[in-house]
Amino acid sequence: MRRNRRLAAFSASLFLFLAACAGNAPQDTLEPKGPVARQIDHLINPVFIVAGVVFVLVEGLVLLAVIKFRARPDSPEPEQIHGNTRLEVGWTLAPALILLAVAVPTIATIFDLSKKPENAVNVTVIGHQFWWEYRYEDLGVVTANELRMPVGRPVELTLNSDDVIHSYWIPPLGGKTDVVPGRNNTMHLEAETPGEYLGQCTEFCGASHANMRAKAIAMAPADFDAWVAGQKAAAPAPAAGTMAEEGALLFAQKGCGGCHTVQGVSEGKIGPNLTHLATRTTFAGSIFNNNDQNLRTWLRDPQAAKPGNKMIIPGGPLAPDEITKLIAYLDTLR
Ligand code: CUA
Repeated sequence: MRRNRRLAAFSASLFLFLAACAGNAPQDTLEPKGPVARQIDHLINPVFIVAGVVFVLVEGLVLLAVIKFRARPDSPEPEQIHGNTRLEVGWTLAPALILLAVAVPTIATIFDLSKKPENAVNVTVIGHQFWWEYRYEDLGVVTANELRMPVGRPVELTLNSDDVIHSYWIPPLGGKTDVVPGRNNTMHLEAETPGEYLGQCTEFCGASHANMRAKAIAMAPADFDAWVAGQKAAAPAPAAGTMAEEGALLFAQKGCGGCHTVQGVSEGKIGPNLTHLATRTTFAGSIFNNNDQNLRTWLRDPQAAKPGNKMIIPGGPLAPDEITKLIAYLDTLR
């Protein structure tokens, strides 16, 4: 009985341990995809080795002491070493020296990473329950959930929160930074190759903390410039007599614009700016791929899709045909 229980406990811990070994994990901290993340990685590796050696040494000595000096019926009390000045100075100095050795590259890296890089793209990131807002003030672009960035050029993020404390983390590109209301924190990211880099809010921020993902999309510089040009312009109004036009009318009637900005249409500030929603690959904190089926799931019952989020539909749930019209409209927001 006891044996079975021990076996079960052992299997459970082994399973948990192995669960950490994913073959192709997009949020792998140990596979940097840019210079900032690589610099951090170059610090972690030697520090981890030092920590590993210390751990094995200390645990080994503890085990040795436990086994060698364990109480036996007739064993005398082992020799005591209290008051051995040489030993005590030794085990005080050794850790202090190890910590000093670790501190030198750590502090150098911290200072180096906090330097403002030349030629950075400036982006203000605002954390909301439960999505990210990105404001490219210099470029006149506001978007949500997806950080677009050019490859080979650093991005300086100035992070702030609209409500509670969040934490911004895109592991392949850089470290974590807390996103605190009333305070601007900065961090830098840079990607080397075009692609999508996934991340996650890493500070518990409410019921849907786990549904608050982050995503960076790195693009060739020319593609990034084209994206910026597209985002600056208002989306074209839907053509007359189309279902999208009926959707635009519903958008106004239902009061969607009270929370959402659509450039040239509404100026809501609570939810994500939807001006170019159809150009995004995901929505709602990047937990849904942006397609009609997921938009339908979302508009049918946003609270079921993502508990605790701030989206409420004024006047109650939408009818299926209203949802179809709204989606037709949202699809025109390119
Ligand atoms: Cu935002 Cu957790």
